Amino acid sequence: MTHDYKQFKRRIIITGGAGFIGSHTVRHFVKKYPDYLIINFDKLTYAGNLENLRDIENYPNYVFVKGDVADEDIVRETMEKYHVDSIIHLAAESHVDRSIFNPMEFVRTNVVGTVTLLNVARHLWEKWDDIENPLFYHISTDEVYGSLGKEGKFTEKTPYDPRSPYSASKASSDHFVRAYHHTYGMPVLITNCSNNYGPYQFPEKLIPLVALHFAEEKPVPVYGTGENVRDWLYVEDHAKAIDTVFHKGKIGETYNIGAENEWRNIDIVHKIGQLVDQFLGRPQGYYEKFITFVKDRPGHDFRYALDTTKIRTELGWKPEMPFEQGLRKTIEWYLTNKEWLDRVRSGEYMKYYQQQYAERLK
Ligand code: NAD
Ligand code: DAU
Repeated sequence: MTHDYKQFKRRIIITGGAGFIGSHTVRHFVKKYPDYLIINFDKLTYAGNLENLRDIENYPNYVFVKGDVADEDIVRETMEKYHVDSIIHLAAESHVDRSIFNPMEFVRTNVVGTVTLLNVARHLWEKWDDIENPLFYHISTDEVYGSLGKEGKFTEKTPYDPRSPYSASKASSDHFVRAYHHTYGMPVLITNCSNNYGPYQFPEKLIPLVALHFAEEKPVPVYGTGENVRDWLYVEDHAKAIDTVFHKGKIGETYNIGAENEWRNIDIVHKIGQLVDQFLGRPQGYYEKFITFVKDRPGHDFRYALDTTKIRTELGWKPEMPFEQGLRKTIEWYLTNKEWLDRVRSGEYMKYYQQQYAERLK
């Protein structure tokens, strides 16, 4: 499908739109804003799955571009082709365990990729005089603030103290985004979000991995003693927060996004076990024998917790999904969407792009 960009009120690149949070964000914007052109720009790494977006792939305001955020030429070409006025930047290497084994990929995508986008956007937006409200909106994480003890919360003013290669790369990208604002007057926004859960998350992350292992009667690996704490937010609530910040955020500002819903890993693992047993009609407590304490993640951050007063009071956003309901829905999704899961596990999902876009590849 060809798109005349002039028909659209806004032309927005969403990077990483084939990933977990990216696909929910793309779907949210495509459905809610038919007068915005949404350009999903994604390299399709192992974490990118276009099957996450089957339901909206033929919408007239949706385009997919396969590209690497660290490739200046394709970034420029895409921005010029669609006269892009905003970027919502989610593309990243996102898994802490992988960053411990392969930090360079995190530097390349998360740091070099972010600076490449900033650079190309800055030069084009300085040149184009018909763009009214350009915006570079960078999606970041609570992990940049470091690790908390049992008490306290991170605010937007907490000094950065990243401790894993993943969080160091995200912190570095946040610094570059702010530097472009202060040095060149680039219109930017940053949000730092807590742990997301929901459908379409790659099953290497805690919640899908645990649910599937319980269901399949495999050992459920709990790192260390399982006492580490995370704050869990339903992914569609994150997509709605991104919409709110995109439209109402004050340029140059940072907002924390979270559910203020803290759980120790071991408690969430028990909760998931109970829900899986209920769903599969097993006797109460059947799941317990699969819980297996394993060697801790090196440098494992103990606790993250966000103070989200700023986004709630200044922008009026708050999470809508009750945790119990969101978790149940997520687990049921993983246990019933067998085709999606089989294709992810077998690697078949990687071929979807070739099948869907075969014409363009000739
Ligand atoms: P994900 O790993 O599920 O998806 C990442 C996407 O980025 C994939 O589609 C992948 O193909 C794409 N990508 C990777 N490298 C690329 C490159 N060089 N060029 C273009 N595309 C590339 O990630 P996610 O969990 O959806 O996280 C999205 C963003 O949100 C990340 O920036 C992450 O740091 C941030 N974040 C995630 C969470 C969470 O709980 N998952 C919480 C807070 C913030
Ligand atoms: O806090 C936001 C971050 O949340 C995001 O920035 C990251 O992109 C995202 O991956 C997530 O990072 P975590 O490391 O917190 O998520 P993960 O699902 O990998 O692990 C959650 C917790 O569970 C963590 O304390 C490690 C633990 N864990 C994880 C796995 C995969 C286990 O105990 N066993 C496991 O098998």
